[in-house]
Amino acid sequence: MTDRAASKPNATWWTRHHKLETNSIFLLIGVLIAISFGGLVEIAPLFFLQSTIEKVEGMRPYTPLELAGRNIYVREGCYLCHSQMIRALRDEVERYGHYSLAAESMYDHPFQWGSKRNGPDLARVGDKYSDAWHVAHLNEPRALVPQSIMPKYAFLAKTELDFGLIADHLRVNRAVGVPYTDEMIARAKLDLKAQVDPDGPDAEAFLSRYPKTKLRKFDADHREITEADALIAYMQMLGTLVEFKLYDDKAALR
Ligand code: HEC
Repeated sequence: MTDRAASKPNATWWTRHHKLETNSIFLLIGVLIAISFGGLVEIAPLFFLQSTIEKVEGMRPYTPLELAGRNIYVREGCYLCHSQMIRALRDEVERYGHYSLAAESMYDHPFQWGSKRNGPDLARVGDKYSDAWHVAHLNEPRALVPQSIMPKYAFLAKTELDFGLIADHLRVNRAVGVPYTDEMIARAKLDLKAQVDPDGPDAEAFLSRYPKTKLRKFDADHREITEADALIAYMQMLGTLVEFKLYDDKAALR
């Protein structure tokens, strides 16, 4: 046998492989088949699942006042400087708290994860400061944080909240999957007022609809319901619905 004959490949599986790798069309078809198989394995099961979001205890739809505040958050473009998504990275978890769960934004339409952090993440800002701190901060951020580049939003505390369409906002959210009941929609305006009136006649009924909710006049100005009331009600609930201590304790037991 000559050297040449020895180096000539036999017609085995690997010569066929050689053909595949040296012919771009064959290779392309092969790659497409391989990718679509991988894609099917990953994607097809999702069509048979009710939801890809793991349920967590404590999540409830926004109250009408919180929803109105969230609308102001979006209107003012707060998401341009603030994210609401804590990544599962050590530095983030140490700074902001437990990383965000998918379920925590399941009632957000549209979600407010954001993509920029000129200011800190706000996913768990609820209960971090007092209402008075928020009022003062919105009024003039530099009064509290001298180096702040956040614009002031002093007008919010002076602008009466327009909630004429709040029932429709709830209805729209229900159309995209938020479980608001007929009762919640019918009583949206009353519920909005009830949240700033803890001693009012509707307070108890309101709490039965929206458990674990903060009831108070958020901007401490007792004349009218302002945009600041709504925005602060929204910020004070961010990240407070899920009891992470339960999860962390379970993890600690393991
Ligand atoms: C131009 C960017 C920018 C915009 C727009 C902006 N912020 Fe900020 N925000 C910042 C910066 C920077 C800080 C950090 C300094 C400070 O506390 O003022 C901050 C801080 C905050 C804090 C304190 C967070 C913490 O954990 O200490 C809150 C709450 C907040 N912003 C809410 C809002 C809301 C609500 C809006 C919309 C009405 C808004 N911000 C719009 C830049 C911005």
